[in-house]
Formats: sequence, structure tokens, C-alpha cells
Amino acid sequence: MDLGWGNEKASKFLTNVGLITTVGPNGANIMAAEWTYYVSWSPALVSVHIGGGKTAKATAENIMATKEFGVSIAADDQNVIASIAGGSHGREVDKMKVLKEMGFAFSKSKHIKPELVSGAASLIECKLKEAVELGDHTMFVGEVLSIETDQSKEPLAYSFGKYYALGEMLHKPEQPILDKIEELKKKYEKK
Ligand SMILES: Cc1cc2nc3c(=O)[nH]c(=O)nc-3n(C[C@H](O)[C@H](O)[C@H](O)COP(=O)(O)O)c2cc1C
Repeated sequence: MDLGWGNEKASKFLTNVGLITTVGPNGANIMAAEWTYYVSWSPALVSVHIGGGKTAKATAENIMATKEFGVSIAADDQNVIASIAGGSHGREVDKMKVLKEMGFAFSKSKHIKPELVSGAASLIECKLKEAVELGDHTMFVGEVLSIETDQSKEPLAYSFGKYYALGEMLHKPEQPILDKIEELKKKYEKK
């Protein structure tokens, strides 16, 4: 079936916002990608899913040309950066200059050319492992070369076009419920 962009049936997914930085044929660029996932621990792999084919967007073309990209996981006070990064195209606007002129800071990476976004919750440097076209997006899988995480920051949450800060932490089940679960697991154990 075809869900299409903005279909309410797909409105209950909750994601974070990756700020994807690249330097390539389109110059230094930044885009927002809510479809940014941690997909393997060993080796550490992060995937970023970008609309269109392997070179459709400026970010995708930069990644294909240089085989590297930065992922800054936006903190919950960085929704303005996310909106700028996701609100125009790197072939038309120098978004890095816009952000810098607005006072947002970037830091140099250790292993790759693109800079990373200061104040983000996590800063990740990736080397492209593979690019796979999946439906109307391309999955860019990055091997993590380095990751720095600021434990004082909370990630920005995103759901159906709106930003959120993480709310109340829910507790795990109370002991009597855990005991009941154990009892039922024993009762329905597969022999
Ligand atoms: C919060 C937010 C999240 C987004 N997530 C994605 C995403 O996961 N994948 C995607 O292809 N575009 C996503 N976009 C749209 C792109 O950021 C947008 O198309 C951008 O212009 C691409 O940048 P570029 O053309 O400079 O490469 C998102 C936009 C916003 C504001």
C-alpha cells in the first residue's frame, strides 16, 4: 500500500532528530533527519534515511561523494536548528552560514571533514558502510568512528511534525506484577 507523506495513520511513531552534516559537491551542508537510528552495537552502526534516490538531496549526494557524514542528535533546546536544517535545500541555501550568523556554534570533528553541532545530545562521526534504496527513501548506514554523549542533555523528541521534550519517566512494573509475569512464563513455558 501507499501511505504518502502526512498520513494520520502513520502519526504515532516517535523519533529523535539527527542533524546530518556533510561536506561535498554541495559544499558544507546540514539537514534534519528524524529517521536516524542506532542499528547495531558491535560494530556500532547508525542509519540515516533520506528521501529519494542516492543523490536526490544535497546531503545524500554529499555522502555518496565523500563516504562520510556527521550525526548530531539534537538536544531538546535545539528545535530552531532542526527547523533551519530541515526547512530548505542545501543546493539553494548555505544553511551552515545561516546557522552560524544566527549564533549557533559548530565543533571540528576528529575523523571526518564535516563539523558537528555544539550543544547536541550526542556527536557521532560516521564512515559510510552502505547505501540501500528502500521504497522512497535511501538508507545510509554509517560505521561509527567516534561518539561523544553529553549526559546533561536530553534528546529532542519528534512525532508527526511536532517537537517535544521527554516527559515523565514511567516506572517498570511493581514486584507483584513481575512475580505474576514469572509465574505465567513458567506456566506457559514451551517444553
Ligand atoms: C524535524 C525534521 C525531520 C526531518 N526528517 C527527515 C528524514 O528523516 N528524512 C528526510 O529525507 N527528510 C527529513 N526532513 C526533511 C529534510 O531535512 C529536508 O528535505 C532538507 O531540505 C534536506 O536537506 P538537503 O536538501 O540540504 O540535503 C526532516 C525535516 C525536519 C524539519
